[in-house]
Amino acid sequence: MKPMMNIAVRAARDASKVIVQYMDRVDHLPVVTKEKNDFVTEVDQKAESVIINTLKQAFPDHSILAEESGLAGHSEYQWIIDPLDGTTNYLHGFPQFSISIALKHKDKLVLAVVYDPLRQELFTASAGDGAYLNNRRIRVSKQSSLSGALLGTGFPYKDQRYLDAYLNMFKTFFPETAGIRRAGSAALDLAYVACGRLDGFWEIGLQSWDIAAGALLVREAGGIITDFSANENYLDNGNVIAGNPKVFNQMLKNLEPHIPDSLK
Ligand code: IPD
Ligand code: CA
Ligand code: CA
Repeated sequence: MKPMMNIAVRAARDASKVIVQYMDRVDHLPVVTKEKNDFVTEVDQKAESVIINTLKQAFPDHSILAEESGLAGHSEYQWIIDPLDGTTNYLHGFPQFSISIALKHKDKLVLAVVYDPLRQELFTASAGDGAYLNNRRIRVSKQSSLSGALLGTGFPYKDQRYLDAYLNMFKTFFPETAGIRRAGSAALDLAYVACGRLDGFWEIGLQSWDIAAGALLVREAGGIITDFSANENYLDNGNVIAGNPKVFNQMLKNLEPHIPDSLK
């Protein structure tokens, strides 16, 4: 896995150069609205093509699923890429965004890279080999209950069908926890669960490229991540609950009465 990791890290760092270079020009960047509240700029596209070129050169036979260009190729190995996770933050100069690259082998996540270009924090994981932040081993927090826990979340701002269900979920956690953060990059939120900065995280309606790398980080750091039925279909349905094992169990219990059938 080491050579693959080296290439994936190189791809993420190369993309981060593009993202950082454009930062002081975001006011002048043409923004295309893909769907309501879903934006794309040439930065997302350039960062993505830098990543794809690097991966393709090293692994010409692998398939690639990338947010801006979709699916290419067919192989047991599939790279899942979000070139800029947190585009809304980026466009507003709000300093929380990341690059997310994961590798799946036959339905199993085997490698993860999440890179925060501003803090130069590199989160990596390989299946069975633990999770790391800048090459130092990380683990989920030891927080044992929701009381005192810091949770991360994302709002369902693109598809607002689930706003009421989401607000009910929020209401069950709000009085019980020490705080809830909506930072704006799901990949980094999951990386923060992996390194114990957040005790848990939940969000409705993500895409596989938002989740794939972060999910492996959480698992390799000793955490649990599932969908709202406590199954592992989160890459397909986009619904996520993650946390250290104790906080995860309590989150699931609290969420259960508020999960509409359509999200199960
Ligand atoms: C978004 C971020 C955000 C989450 C959204 C995602 P994007 O990704 O991860 O935190 O709430 O659902 O779509 O569009 O900036 O790549
Ligand atoms: Ca994303
Ligand atoms: Ca993105």
